[in-house]
Amino acid sequence: MPVDAKKLVKKASQLMKPVEKLDCETPRSTTTDGEIITFEYMWATHLSDEDFEWVYALFKTNMLDMYQKSQWGYDENSKRNELRATTSRFIIAINSKGEKIGYTTYRFVVDHNIPVAYCWELQILPAYQNKGIGGMMLDTLERLSARTNMTKVMATVFLYNAPSLGFFHKHGYVSDVTCPSDDSGLDYAILSKETPS
Ligand SMILES: CC(C)(COP(=O)(O)OP(=O)(O)OC[C@H]1O[C@@H](n2cnc3c(N)ncnc32)[C@H](O)[C@@H]1OP(=O)(O)O)[C@@H](O)C(=O)NCCC(=O)NCCS
Repeated sequence: MPVDAKKLVKKASQLMKPVEKLDCETPRSTTTDGEIITFEYMWATHLSDEDFEWVYALFKTNMLDMYQKSQWGYDENSKRNELRATTSRFIIAINSKGEKIGYTTYRFVVDHNIPVAYCWELQILPAYQNKGIGGMMLDTLERLSARTNMTKVMATVFLYNAPSLGFFHKHGYVSDVTCPSDDSGLDYAILSKETPS
């Protein structure tokens, strides 16, 4: 593995407040229907138990059916551990009433020898979907990827999750070089967007 990739990922992962410190917050803050959204940033290890239960409940609301029918299957313990991993970072979206309405969790990782910002989960409360909030969080992630010298932002999406595939494609994501081929029989796609240098 190239030393640089490992070093870059280590450096980015050690930043306590990467979005604030590197000034990566999206300039967009208003939903398509005019509500002001704010964002909080934290390491997964700093989430309170109450916040973590909210994170997990939203994951379940949005994704349980999709995981149950997937080839991976649904394994609650391993998903909970994944979301709370020490390398996991959160962006939480808050509405104008101060309620949490969505989140993304990402990690800086070396993927096939390349330093990347991996969008691990992106979950918006059903009532707040399709109002531009996911796009705002992706914009922040892409800025963060650029400022931390990651090569690309990556995401894994079930092939039957048409809204999510449509969402990522709309934002310029394409099949990654590591994406399983059409005839692989696998039920997910790996998408990515190069970070402009
Ligand atoms: C997918 C998700 C994260 C997107 O976030 P969002 O805040 O709803 O997305 P935005 O409002 O920023 O953008 C929506 C765009 O997605 C695209 N989209 C949505 N549904 C679509 C569909 N069925 N087919 C094609 N494109 C679709 C559209 O291009 C839409 O843009 P438009 O404004 O031009 O119509 C969110 O809807 C969500 O939480 N879904 C359920 C959980 C999930 O699938 N998460 C992703 C796991 S990989």
